[in-house]
Order: sequence, then C-alpha cells, then structure tokens
Amino acid sequence: MRIMVVGGGGREHAIIKKLSESPRVTEIFALPGNGAIASLATCVNIGAKDIEGIVKFAKENNIQFAVVAPDDPLVLGAVDALHKEGIPCFGPESKAAIIEGSKIFSKNMMKEAGIPTAEYETFHNMDDALAYLENCAIPVVIKADGLALGKGVVIAMTRDEAKQAVREMMEDKVFGDSGSNIVIEEFLTGPEVSVLSFTDGNVVVPMVSSMDHKRIGNDDTGLNTGGMGTIAPNPYYTQEIADRCMKEIFLPTMEAMNKLGRTFKGCLYFGLMITEQGPKVIEYNCRFGDPETQVVLPLLKTDLFDIMEAVENGTLKDINVEFKDESACCVVMASEGYPKKYATGYEITYDMDLEAEIYVAGAKAEDGRLYTAGGRVLGVVCTAQNLSLAVEKAYREVEKVHFENAYYRSDIGKKALKVLEEN
Ligand code: AMP
Ligand code: GLY
Repeated sequence: MRIMVVGGGGREHAIIKKLSESPRVTEIFALPGNGAIASLATCVNIGAKDIEGIVKFAKENNIQFAVVAPDDPLVLGAVDALHKEGIPCFGPESKAAIIEGSKIFSKNMMKEAGIPTAEYETFHNMDDALAYLENCAIPVVIKADGLALGKGVVIAMTRDEAKQAVREMMEDKVFGDSGSNIVIEEFLTGPEVSVLSFTDGNVVVPMVSSMDHKRIGNDDTGLNTGGMGTIAPNPYYTQEIADRCMKEIFLPTMEAMNKLGRTFKGCLYFGLMITEQGPKVIEYNCRFGDPETQVVLPLLKTDLFDIMEAVENGTLKDINVEFKDESACCVVMASEGYPKKYATGYEITYDMDLEAEIYVAGAKAEDGRLYTAGGRVLGVVCTAQNLSLAVEKAYREVEKVHFENAYYRSDIGKKALKVLEEN
C-alpha cells in the first residue's frame, strides 16, 4: 500500500511511526512532513491546507490510501476532494468535520440530542453579546465559532475581561471570520480527560484515555499552549465514568451525526470535563489530538492501518482494537519563550543511549542534521508498566536530548500520580 499522510507535526510523526510498523504499508508520503519524519516517509513540500495540491499529488503518485490528520484540511474538505477522485481516506468529510469547525453547530447538536455540555447562548452581533454579559454568571467562557489555531477560547474571570474578549473577537476580528459568531457558555469545573475514538458511523471504539497539560508553566500556570505534555491512561477516567461516557456521550454523538446526514468517519476526539454532575463535553475535535496521539498510539497493539481501512469501509466492528496494559508519558520540549516570541535554528542532538521515542513537531533537516524550527520542538515519549515508571523514564530520557534554549515542564504526570496515590 502506498499511503499519504497530510500534516507535519508531532502527531503526524506518531501516526507515521505506527503506520510504518504495518506489514501492509510499503511506502509513506508526508505532506509536508518535517525534518524528522523524513526518516520514515518521503516528505513532499505541499502544505496541509493546499487541497488542490494534495489531490493532484495523490492522483499523480497512485496513492492508495490517504490519512488527513490536521483540522484545517478536514474542515476545508480535503477528504471530500480525495473521495471524488476515488481515493480511500481516513478522516471525516467536511460535513462531519463541522463538529470541530463550528462550535455553534456542535453546541446545538448536543442540545438537540441531550448530550451533557455547558449551558450556552450563541451570538451573531456584538451588542447582544455585550448586553448578555451585563447579567450572566462570572467566570464565563467566550468561544469563537470557527477554527482559531486552538486559541479561540477565553475563560473570563471578570465581566470586563469577558467584554474585552467579545470585542476582540467580534470587532477587532483577531480570529478573522472565525470570531464573527460566538458562543458564551457556563464555566464548568472538574478534571479534564481526553478520549480519542475510532468511529465508522456504526460503532465507536474509544482509545486509551489521556490527559493533556495545556499551560506553559508547572502546576498549570501561565499562558495556554498547544500542549506541553500528556500521560495515558488518565486516572480520572474510571470504568464507571467510561461506561457513562459511552451511554451518555459517545453513542448519542454518533447517532446524532448520523441522523443529521453527517456520518462521522475517522478519529473523533472527546474533550471531557468530569463535573460533579458527571462527564460533560467541553469540545469535540474531528481528528487525533496533539500531543495526546503521542501517548495513545504507542500503547496501541492492533495494526493501525487495518483499523483505518475498516473505518473507511464501515467494518470497524470486525476489528479487535487492543491496547497494551501499560502507561505512557510525553514531555514536550519547547523553545524558551514559547508561546510568545522564541528563537529557532539550534541544532538538536540525542545521546547514543537514548531509549525514548522522539516525535518531532518543529524541526528542519539540513546536511543530515536537525535544527529547531518551531515553538514546540519535540515530544519525548516513554512507556512502562505503570505511570510512575513511565514518567520517571521520560524525564530521564529528556536529559539525553539537547538543543539550546530548551524549555519543558517538570511536572507532567504529577497530578495524575497524585490521584493514583489517593485511590
Ligand atoms: P479548547 O480550546 O476548546 O480546547 O478549550 C481550551 C480549554 O478551555 C479547555 O481545555 C478547558 O480547560 C477550558 N474550557 C473550555 N470550555 C470550558 C468551560 N465551559 N468551562 C471551563 N473551562 C472550559
Ligand atoms: N490537545 C488538544 C488538541 O489537539 O486540540
């Protein structure tokens, strides 16, 4: 099988690594890939949002199966365009990717289907939104309707902050058209769990649960980032919660999408909060999470290509999707200064005795060497029999990865380990 993977970050590196282990996969192309992915796949300089370029490449190179990983091309219709050319894909068509592409759509869908989520109102003009903020409960959460590079959510602790966020989105257009319409929703509290799932519209198969660490600083302080580390499984996701999620959230979501004629095929990501009233949906993503994928896929025992093909064919129920009974930890190493200004171009080196998987997000290769080229540079991933060992190992291996101005959190997994100790 000649496969093409669209995307070029740490998540795609982890997907490509897993696909490369399948005996059925003979050749992988990455569009655009990155300097480290180049050791597993042929990187082609076509951007993930260049739908025309992606389709042209697939046709000209006899691609037999395409995996579209990032949100933008999915929402823009990359899978629709590839399907039109008869190319099988893993990933939802745009009519289903809207579950991430429009928060107003997903909130209304949940309300209609009775899926537990934060109470909300939608707004299409600024004056109505500002008037609503005069009397609503505080803190309050403001969300841009469309994709906003993961930055379209503001948790406002005061009324003034809330108003400022609304003005920035609707008047100053800091997220362009994505902020023309907004959702204002109830602030929920509780631990967060990410659950990625495979679904073909007939069944939903949850993967092992995980926990992201989104803030830049230790103990969840400082600015939001694209994710500074992950662990799996997430100890807050007990069997009881898992059963409730399947019944109250996962199956109702699949059925609601089917009913709307928007059958979702691919990886459906549930961002959950375990509130006092039970699990609620914070967000859906129409794709694998980053950096959740970097801890989830290393625990997958089943051939990833077999699963992806079954999702596309609607035969997922025939596949026995199995995970190792182990834990994983990913520590993200970033460029000092991220998520604000940072410098790049530093050489990345590994000690000879490195025993971790390295999934590279931002690096370019030159003359056989690797140089930093992004805010989040790479994830150091270790698996072990239990979480405590996986975390310990990941931090030992981080010491064997070198580049100037490297920054990483030193507490990835700390909260999860505390929960395990208390139980
Ligand atoms: P998102 O960009 O949708 O991933 O949201 C970023 C983060 O904002 C989430 O991971 C939550 O920590 C937080 N968040 C989003 N919605 C709510 C809510 N209704 N209540 C509390 N926190 C929220
Ligand atoms: N880690 C959250 C996301 O991929 O959006």
